[in-house]
Amino acid sequence: METIVSGARPTGRLHLGHLHGALKNWVRLQSGYRCFFFVADWHALTTDYASPEGIEQNTLEMVMDWLSVGLDPKRCVLFRQSRIKEHAELHLLLSMITPVSWLERNPTYKEQMRELEGRDLSTYGFLGYPVLQAADIIMYKANKVPVGVDQAPHVELTREIVRRFNQVYRPIFPEPEVLLTETQKLPGLDGRKMSKSYNNAVFLSDPPKEIDQKLSRMMTDPARVTRKDPGEPLKCPAFQLHQIYCTPDEIDYVTKGCRTAGIGCLECKKIMIKHVVEELAPFQEKRAGYERRPAEVKEVLAAGNRVAQEQAAQTMSEVRNVLGL
Ligand code: TRP
Ligand code: SF4
Repeated sequence: METIVSGARPTGRLHLGHLHGALKNWVRLQSGYRCFFFVADWHALTTDYASPEGIEQNTLEMVMDWLSVGLDPKRCVLFRQSRIKEHAELHLLLSMITPVSWLERNPTYKEQMRELEGRDLSTYGFLGYPVLQAADIIMYKANKVPVGVDQAPHVELTREIVRRFNQVYRPIFPEPEVLLTETQKLPGLDGRKMSKSYNNAVFLSDPPKEIDQKLSRMMTDPARVTRKDPGEPLKCPAFQLHQIYCTPDEIDYVTKGCRTAGIGCLECKKIMIKHVVEELAPFQEKRAGYERRPAEVKEVLAAGNRVAQEQAAQTMSEVRNVLGL
């Protein structure tokens, strides 16, 4: 069976963007692959070294969401990066063979340098974080890495590092392939990409009433100034959610109603909101259970850490052997 590795920074509670972007994909993959999914808590420090306070709590919140949407610890290994010290050792060894120029030309690096304002990104750790990511991936000899497009350059870099390692020392690592996650970019409440930092997200754990309130306020086609003005669904951010959630009949009804001003935006959105709330209900019930028993979540992680640790120890003894260390 092929191996899959993917990680996520501990961002706390997850939202609909995460659900449709990564999580559903991960849940599907667990039946066809040997999967390792981990909390990339060291990675959080590469961009936010000055605020480590939230990491512990955000890790728990995120893992609760993982479990609630159906990641099953019997079918995948869920673990926490910082618990497996071997990642740091492999990162160090890979850093020896990684030219700085490979890191500097990384498009994601350049983009983040430009876009993440107000953070100190001039560190060694930030420049080198794709090397840490390479260590995360090859530690488990991954064949495939499910990530979004923004992360694809990192997997490409991982492949280059692997080729160099295999050539300079001995070929012990497979070259991992990107498994590109469909980036159906989910719009947030204001029409921009849904993101916690934009404050425009619907969280998976928001109570139904809050989901209703948030989505009722979601941006629509600005042409619909009053109830009498017709609109165009394809210009409406809310309608992108209809397309994910509604039945073909409902989409048809809403599309006609919008173009003829036959329905109002609130009525229109209520049709979609009902589905969102329904989809999240079983998930929220499961999550409430984990909230009552946080020890269980910690135990899941502890068990996953043990499995990852064993695999990492094996890989590292091979690596040390190959390098004569
Ligand atoms: N860098 C990824 C992110 O910011 C998280 C990550 C760390 C990751 N290590 C990984 C993803 C290994 C895939 C595989 O989202
Ligand atoms: Fe969007 Fe529906 Fe309003 Fe049309 S009627 S603009 S599709 S919310």
